[in-house]
Parts: sequence; C-alpha cells; structure tokens
Amino acid sequence: MELIDGKKISTEIKEEIAKEVKKIVSKGEKRPHLAAILVGHDGGSETYVAHKVKSCEQVGFDSSLIRFENDVTEKELLSKIDELNNDTKIDGFIVQLPIPKHIDEQKIIEAIDPKKDVDGFHPMNVGNMVIGIDTFVSATPAGIIDLLQRYNIETSGKNVVVLGRSNIVGRPMSILLSQKGLDATVTVCHSKTKNLTSIVKQADIIIAAIGIPEFVTKDMVKEGAVIIDVGTTRVKSDLTKSGWKLKGDVKFDEVAEKCSYITPVPGGVGPMTIVSLLKNTLKAAKK
Ligand code: GUN
Repeated sequence: MELIDGKKISTEIKEEIAKEVKKIVSKGEKRPHLAAILVGHDGGSETYVAHKVKSCEQVGFDSSLIRFENDVTEKELLSKIDELNNDTKIDGFIVQLPIPKHIDEQKIIEAIDPKKDVDGFHPMNVGNMVIGIDTFVSATPAGIIDLLQRYNIETSGKNVVVLGRSNIVGRPMSILLSQKGLDATVTVCHSKTKNLTSIVKQADIIIAAIGIPEFVTKDMVKEGAVIIDVGTTRVKSDLTKSGWKLKGDVKFDEVAEKCSYITPVPGGVGPMTIVSLLKNTLKAAKK
C-alpha cells in the first residue's frame, strides 16, 4: 500500500504557484487577490477559511476575510457580494458554506459573478464543466484529479465508484471522471442505493464523499483498489490540542491493508482542495 501524500503534492503545487506570482509581480502587475466571506463561527468553517487565508500568504496572494454574524440578512449578504463583484482589486471570492438556514444558499451562489466564482459553484460554471468547457471547477474534485495524475494512477477504462452525490464533491467528481481524457466508467452511489457493498467491491477506484465517519470497511473493498477519502467529520478528541480530530469516511487501518493507494485524513484530499482554490484564483487573475 502506498500513501497518497496530499500535503507533499500541495506543497509542490504551491511552490509552482508562488513562482508564477513572482513573475506576475515582477512584470509590475498586481498580486492575485482572493476574498472569503465567512458567516458565523462554525468551528469547521473557521478552520477551513483560516487555512485558505494562510495558503494565500504562502503563495504571495493578497487575501481578505469578510465576516458576518449568524443573524446577517440575505439582503446584507447580497449587497456585499455585489460590492465584491464590482471591486476590481478582488480577482475571485468565495462564500464559505454552510450558511444559516434563513438565507437562500442557491440565491447567494447565483449572485456571485461567474468570472469571480473561484469555487466553481455558479450554475454557469457547473454547466461549462459538464460539457467540458474550460472553467472554474469545484476545488475538491479538481484536487483529487491532480492527486491521481501526480501519482500516475490510471483512470481510463477503470471502474470508479463515487459514494455521495453532493453538488460540491460527488456529482462534479463523477462527471469529470467520465469525461474524455479521464475515461473512467463511473457509478454514483447514495443513500437509496441497493446492494451497496457488492457495487463498491467492483471498484478499481473508490471516492468516498458521504460524510459518515469510517463508512467504508474492508469487506467493501476489492484487493488492490485505490481509495480516495474525502470525509472530514470533526469528532471530539482528548488526544489533540484543539480538542477535535478529523475522521475520514474510510476505516483507514483495515482498508489500508487491502488497497494499493490510500489518502490519509488529514493530509490527503484536504490540502489539495485549498490548492485548487488557489489555482482557480490565479486563473481568475490572469483573465
Ligand atoms: N464548505 C465545504 N467545502 C467548501 C468549499 O469548497 N467551498 C465553500 N465555499 N464552502 C465549503
């Protein structure tokens, strides 16, 4: 079994981005600038956004963090989005999800100018991705494809099972992997799937993105399969300084014995998601 080291690959890609930023700045052009809107104080979202801001610093981007309390109105949020859409200093921005229930998430996503939508969540960018037009692709699926390619893991003709059909991960992942060039045969499984174990067991590559800790057990995995674990459920722990621990969707210890490659949690897919966001921001800045 070989560990897929997302931390190492993400560091390499960040170095590549930092070099490009140096070139841009040396030509007298402005630094790429990513803004993030964070609503409330959810522990997970705070951590993700802090990582995003820190990663911007590491590659030489400017970044802005815009905070709102949980009681922010939809109108206030839409007004800030309008401001960012029209701010020429900002190349791309994200609204960290989830947002409070009283705000219409889809309305927020659709208010973002597709040219600044570096999360790739706007229907226009999703549509472009589906038909294979170069666009902003959702960061986690893009990061997973980078990982597979950097480890020379063949996808052509392989059976891939994607567990989960979220708009952020499962669905775009399944579409990208079936496209020309990647050429996988993809099955999407979800909460209504029957005979799940027998389907997952046929997979050469398993992408686990259902958000249920340790859902994938060794009896579901074919000998030699490639395991990509997208799960990041925070569970309480006495063993860490923060009091929290991240758990993946895969029962790591027992599955690791059976597979050919596996991503750890943390240090697998997570760092790649952030790098994809940086790549999208660089792309937005170049446009
Ligand atoms: N919440 C969980 N993942 C993401 C992401 O990739 N982008 C945003 N904006 N929110 C998230």
